[in-house]
Amino acid sequence: MFEKIERVPGDAILGLIEAYNQDANPQKVDLGVGVYRDPNGNTPIMRAVKQAEAHLLESETTKSYIGSHGDPRYGKAVLPLVLGSDSPVLAANRASATQSPGGTGALRLAADFIKSNLPGKRIWLSDPTWPNHLGIFDAAGIEMRKYPYVSADNRLDFDAMLATLKEIPQGDVVLLHACCHNPSGFDLDREQWQQVLEVVKSRGLLPLVDFAYQGFGEGLEADAYGVRLMAENLDEVLITSSCSKNFGLYRERTGCLIVIAKNAEQMQNVRSQMAIVARENYSNPPSHGAAVVTEILESAELARVWREELTEMCDRINGLRSDLVAALEPYGLDKRFAHVAAQRGMFSYTGLSTEQVKRLRDEFSIYMVGSGRANVAGFTSENLPYVAKAIAAVVD
Ligand code: LMR
Repeated sequence: MFEKIERVPGDAILGLIEAYNQDANPQKVDLGVGVYRDPNGNTPIMRAVKQAEAHLLESETTKSYIGSHGDPRYGKAVLPLVLGSDSPVLAANRASATQSPGGTGALRLAADFIKSNLPGKRIWLSDPTWPNHLGIFDAAGIEMRKYPYVSADNRLDFDAMLATLKEIPQGDVVLLHACCHNPSGFDLDREQWQQVLEVVKSRGLLPLVDFAYQGFGEGLEADAYGVRLMAENLDEVLITSSCSKNFGLYRERTGCLIVIAKNAEQMQNVRSQMAIVARENYSNPPSHGAAVVTEILESAELARVWREELTEMCDRINGLRSDLVAALEPYGLDKRFAHVAAQRGMFSYTGLSTEQVKRLRDEFSIYMVGSGRANVAGFTSENLPYVAKAIAAVVD
């Protein structure tokens, strides 16, 4: 039977990890997969995570199942982080968290829930979006549509976005990036979020807000602006939250799907469906990462240490954005790449073409996604002059 199976190309983002590892060039630069890197190019285990793990090693008493919703303590700790500690939605008991294997697992939970409980609903994705959004919703059998987001001259095209949102049929699902838009780095400002809310309300759309980078744009609270605006002004919202980046727990697969319903009873009904979706996918989520996050958020001291390090990481990335623009100045390219300093989060849609990205890889061993997306955290003070010189060599 297997002789009929064709080989397919590897994932466009994850495939870069292997290609980079195999490159023998000592000057190689990894601007591919979205992981944070410190000034030495490493992806460290965060200080608070190390401390929480040490405590867990001593205190953990069982490896028994934790149930399809995961650890209730994790849900209790994460909901205020996402929705705000004084959230009226939490006070009204309208929100529930289902722990998931990372943000990707949360998205798949949402997709399967939509497919089985909201039949016929389509999902509208930003153009461009994280390529795996397409894979996840396609695998779940949901019809996908796009709304414009980035213009041909590489800027946020909010007018075109809004115009398309206004045309979406009543009741469809619209996926919004809460902050740190992946892949572009172009985020909505507060006024624009307000306008999106009005359209979502008037069209009766269901927002699915992907919140994978809380803390990497402007900070933990500021990054939650759009999420909280939706949560506090709509009856029904889905939110996928990830702890991969902001707790540096990538491989521990830690996240959750948050459901907000009109009232506590409807929330419990939806929650019961989520348990079935989780059970059919993987039964129980992995525990370790969520246990670490819970330890941190339940301890005022560990939470302080964690917030401090996350702020350092966010500041470093935002600083690197300006550093790249400055490094391009001697080549007369600072104005052309000024948008990099204004974008937010881990990524920059540089505006480099697929052909230019290929040349950077083939001629300079600089790895980024073919769309021209660069992981800004991959820059260091050592490699920036080299990267700037290489960019100058490949642009027209
Ligand atoms: C990325 O976009 O690089 C990250 O979200 C990692 C991934 O799974 O693609």
